[in-house]
Amino acid sequence: MREFDEKSITRAVIERLSECSDPRFKSVMTSLVTHLHDFVREVQLTEAEWVTAIQFLTDVGKTCTDQRQEFILLSDTLGVSVLVITLNHPADQGSAESTVLGPFYWEGAPDLPRGSNLAKGVEGEPAFYSGRVLGADGLPLENALLDIWSGNGDGYYDMQLPEETGMKARGKIRTDAEGRYWFRSIRPTFYAVPTDGPVGRMLRKMGRHPYRPGHIHMIVSAAGYLPVTTHLFIAGSDYLDSDAVFGVKESLVAQFDRHVPGIGPEGERVDTPFYTVNYDFRLRPAAAGGA
Ligand code: BEZ
Ligand code: FE
Repeated sequence: MREFDEKSITRAVIERLSECSDPRFKSVMTSLVTHLHDFVREVQLTEAEWVTAIQFLTDVGKTCTDQRQEFILLSDTLGVSVLVITLNHPADQGSAESTVLGPFYWEGAPDLPRGSNLAKGVEGEPAFYSGRVLGADGLPLENALLDIWSGNGDGYYDMQLPEETGMKARGKIRTDAEGRYWFRSIRPTFYAVPTDGPVGRMLRKMGRHPYRPGHIHMIVSAAGYLPVTTHLFIAGSDYLDSDAVFGVKESLVAQFDRHVPGIGPEGERVDTPFYTVNYDFRLRPAAAGGA
């Protein structure tokens, strides 16, 4: 048959996959075509809407640069990133939960001694972070790595600031023999995901705000364990209940205790109010499976 109606077109496209030799690809494409066609039929997509959608995706592609990934932002704001993460990293046995990587990870942050101030020259309220990295059995993991990044006190990452050429508020810290880590940075504030591109236009049209609650990012890893890409969210932050990218998990919300100016946890004088937070990360053994 050469001619198709609005039902038989779906079958015809799927039949063209009959020679596909990759079973996973075949099954994913079959499902994609089925759902895409069902969607077009369900909303009775008009030609003008189809052109708008193509133009939108073209704009998303054109907005991507080495420093900006608008497709990931689209996936994040539509909840697809968190859905994929949640499917692939089920929370179990109290292990640290994963959340979105986001577009501001920069590989190659400096290795710093425990106790370092990651946020030298960065505006923001000082915060002292500490805790342990443990195996699922509760045993401390020595030499586990925390690759840490955050925005400044105004919510901007170094990569977003034209005047900033190097890394800021980033660093790698390793645990000691008792699995302990500690470092100084700032207490991050809520901020907006980039809204000057097509995803921003989409959010405005959807009637949505673009804000993420205050959080600090880290990738926690240790030899023989599954790495976790995660955040610590600041308890009480605005937008915890309506994160623009749906990344909040209750288990990742941490209490930041406020202190008056005085002596910080490592004996240093701190002239402004400061915060302390303590959080333990549990990692699953690599042999437990998963990604
Ligand atoms: C972030 O937390 O850095 C982020 C995550 C997803 C989209 C935009 C920003
Ligand atoms: Fe972030």
